Amino acid sequence: MRVVITGAGGQLGHDLLDAFADHDPVGLTRHQLDVTDEAAVADAVTTIRPTLVVNAAAATDVDGCEADPDGAHRVNALAPWWLARACARTGATLVTFSTDYVFDGAAPSGPGGTPRGFTETDPVRPLSVYGRTKAAGEQLVRETLPAHHIVRTAWVSGAQGRNFVRTMLRLADVGDPVRVVDDQTGSPTTTRDLAAAVRRLAVTGRHGTVHLVNEGVATWFDVAEAVFALSGRAVDLGRQSSDAVARPAPRPAWSVLDTTHARTLGVGPLPHWRDALVRLLDELGVRAGRPTTAPGADGP
Ligand SMILES: NC(=O)c1ccc[n+]([C@@H]2O[C@H](COP(=O)([O-])OP(=O)(O)OC[C@H]3O[C@@H](n4cnc5c(N)ncnc54)[C@H](OP(=O)(O)O)[C@@H]3O)[C@@H](O)[C@H]2O)c1
Repeated sequence: MRVVITGAGGQLGHDLLDAFADHDPVGLTRHQLDVTDEAAVADAVTTIRPTLVVNAAAATDVDGCEADPDGAHRVNALAPWWLARACARTGATLVTFSTDYVFDGAAPSGPGGTPRGFTETDPVRPLSVYGRTKAAGEQLVRETLPAHHIVRTAWVSGAQGRNFVRTMLRLADVGDPVRVVDDQTGSPTTTRDLAAAVRRLAVTGRHGTVHLVNEGVATWFDVAEAVFALSGRAVDLGRQSSDAVARPAPRPAWSVLDTTHARTLGVGPLPHWRDALVRLLDELGVRAGRPTTAPGADGP
């Protein structure tokens, strides 16, 4: 495969470069390719002639999108469309990412009335500009390019960039009490496991929309508690409600993604989020009690 990764400077882009390393991918950062520039996108795809384009570029500042809806629309909706059009002209496949925030947070009712995760066929009803622009991007890609993988993911953290796990570690170092919302429930996911799953998905030839998240559900409070416990940080951690945090963009209360379809494709299940978090903390070099390698016969 000849692979191009856009948004390669982001946290997911970084791990996608690793996941596709056996195909010597061309990584394009924002500086190298502004995906909102239609002519530049067409030129890059025509020149490089990839068989696969993986679009990790996005406007991901959920509150920032409320302040700049036009800018968010350009990056999250029009740019995937430009990429899909370029792929359609050259015969390439496109992977692009979407979000649990396309859903409204009202938990669908599962067997026995228990809440279930959202499936790929549940209707979208985004609450925020971010969610609306991502949903619009999904639809434009579907209408333009049959050879697409729209990957919905959620609550993403990696070793690079800004994310919840790294924010918690930073707050722990500050030493002040930390209050975290416990009334939003979702599917925490690491970029490592997501990128590896995308690598598997890309060779299935089974196009369409798929949910790729780590297994297990959690609140943000659960994730914070696990980060502090696994990294050995003694933090005054407390719960708070979303109402107590005034934020420009509403967040869905329930945004668990069902992964049955990923399993049927042979791409899932991904590991449980706690297992993924352990490996992320190892990668960041901050896990408490991490076993050190005992010297072997050739050791000191
Ligand atoms: N993070 C999450 O929790 C989460 C949850 C659900 C879905 N997703 C989706 O997962 C995908 C990857 O997100 P991520 O977490 O890796 O986000 P990220 O770390 O913010 O990376 C996004 C990258 O896109 C770049 N970018 C922004 N505008 C661009 C433009 N016009 N042209 C080219 N590049 C541009 C950014 O560059 P700058 O840094 O220079 O702006 C950044 O490097 C996105 O589609 C996102 O919507 C993420």
